[in-house]
Amino acid sequence: MIVILRLGHRLGRDQRISTHCGLVSRVLGADKIIYSGEQDSGILKNIEEVGVRWGGSFAASYEKNWKSAVEEYKRKKFSVVHLTMYGQQIHEKIKALRKKANILIVVGGEKVPPDIYQIADYNIAIGNQPHSEVAALAIFLHEYFAGKELGKNFKSAKLKIIPQDRGKKVEES
Ligand SMILES: C[S@@+](CC[C@H](N)C(=O)[O-])C[C@H]1O[C@@H](n2cnc3c(N)ncnc32)[C@H](O)[C@@H]1O
Repeated sequence: MIVILRLGHRLGRDQRISTHCGLVSRVLGADKIIYSGEQDSGILKNIEEVGVRWGGSFAASYEKNWKSAVEEYKRKKFSVVHLTMYGQQIHEKIKALRKKANILIVVGGEKVPPDIYQIADYNIAIGNQPHSEVAALAIFLHEYFAGKELGKNFKSAKLKIIPQDRGKKVEES
């Protein structure tokens, strides 16, 4: 099971990027996203609505206290992977991480609480340069699942895209 913890969400300013963290996590094979920071029911509603229309069982929830969320998953024997530009390069660690079935992936926001570097089992960089939580998540999941996630079937979808060379074809059920 792959769970994402998105730290430090800010109402208004982060709505789009936090929503994209959820959408990317869902489509690239994760099971759940937990938002921390400021509570935002709009984001949870958006993610839920995408699931109702496009299928699958991806879940989204809010947790005020990010540390207790991490502790809970540690108790459940999840490995905690913090994505940070200061960490070890992903290609050095991905083989070992693929052997772990249960991972909590932590991504930061504008400011990251310093404790997370110590609490995490792995601090992993997607290149040792600053960029984006959405890109870091996408590349981590793509590397972890080695591309197989792109063929994922989303059960009970109301909408299904029939791929075309040109134009749009969507099947409704
Ligand atoms: C825009 S960055 C801001 C980081 C913040 N200024 C700090 O104190 O580190 C937001 C998040 O994107 C992710 N991120 C950015 N660059 C990354 C990289 N090169 N490798 C892995 N994750 C990265 C991290 O999870 C980070 O917390």
